[in-house]
Amino acid sequence: MNSGINKAASSAPAKIILFGEHFVVYNNPAIVAAINRRIHVVAQLNDKSRVNIKSGQNSLSIPINSNDNDMMSHDNSSVSLFPIFKCVKHVLDEKNLVNAGVNLEIESQIPHGEGLGSSAASCVSTVAALYSLFSDFDKNQIYETARIMEQNIHTNSSGVDCYVSTFGGIVNFEPEKGFSKISPRKKFTLLIGASGIKHSTGEVVSQVRQFREKNSSLFNDLSSRAHHICRRAISSMNEGNESELGSLLTENHKLLSILGVSHPEIEKLIKICLNNGALGAKLTGAGKGGAVIALIPTDSSDEVIAKIGSGPGKWIQVEFDYDGVILG
Ligand code: MEV
Repeated sequence: MNSGINKAASSAPAKIILFGEHFVVYNNPAIVAAINRRIHVVAQLNDKSRVNIKSGQNSLSIPINSNDNDMMSHDNSSVSLFPIFKCVKHVLDEKNLVNAGVNLEIESQIPHGEGLGSSAASCVSTVAALYSLFSDFDKNQIYETARIMEQNIHTNSSGVDCYVSTFGGIVNFEPEKGFSKISPRKKFTLLIGASGIKHSTGEVVSQVRQFREKNSSLFNDLSSRAHHICRRAISSMNEGNESELGSLLTENHKLLSILGVSHPEIEKLIKICLNNGALGAKLTGAGKGGAVIALIPTDSSDEVIAKIGSGPGKWIQVEFDYDGVILG
């Protein structure tokens, strides 16, 4: 087997969309940040021409030459790992390894279906671990491949999730200009609340496409308001103005509610945040369930976090991640 090493490990972070989800799919900006929750992947070459994947309770074991039709005979939990299988097949094909197979072990700290970028992080960390088997660790190449692979999970993806999971940090994405880093003047305190309601990003993205087809002028109006919010949010971060940043989060959430991607449980969590001292709150990611993010005033963070945490919902305080995908 003409590989560099036999076993490699990699991990990639989850993400939150601070501003601009959904609108970004239609040529508008989005501000996205990596957070300190990760997916870890260990990849090991085998010479059995099989791909064996273990991820929590789910597992999949299939020949490397399997195709989409072969998946029909598998149960849902195995089918959910098929996009990961496609990552393996893609990289082995690229490396011209005909009879090789791979064993993958995936461990995730990122809840699935909560809008925190678990699909992107699993593609990024899998692709990175696989390339590392061949002594390749080029973040640009990892991003390009993971982005194509993520399209197998949801078509029409803007690519922002894979980008931030690969490179880390807080980034502004403008479809015509690309990605640029944001370095806030101060450290913000962020809480994430999980509603426990799972969604499929692909399905919510296609519901928004239908909304846009039926309500084009309303959609355009919401898009330009979202665009304006992103611009103001960059200034608020650069200036360290947390109260304005908080208001912008809540404003952005209202646009998403009009778009139809909120959920009664999400509205409940947002009310809890705003009634207990958060500076602002919004859903993050595709919506229709998933998670909310809340900005907490730095000077009374313990008190506000304790109040919010004592109500319903599962809350975690998160930090931004500046590493992106790493080896090991
Ligand atoms: C999903 O995390 C974010 C969406 O804007 C879709 C995308 O950008 O690919 C809803």
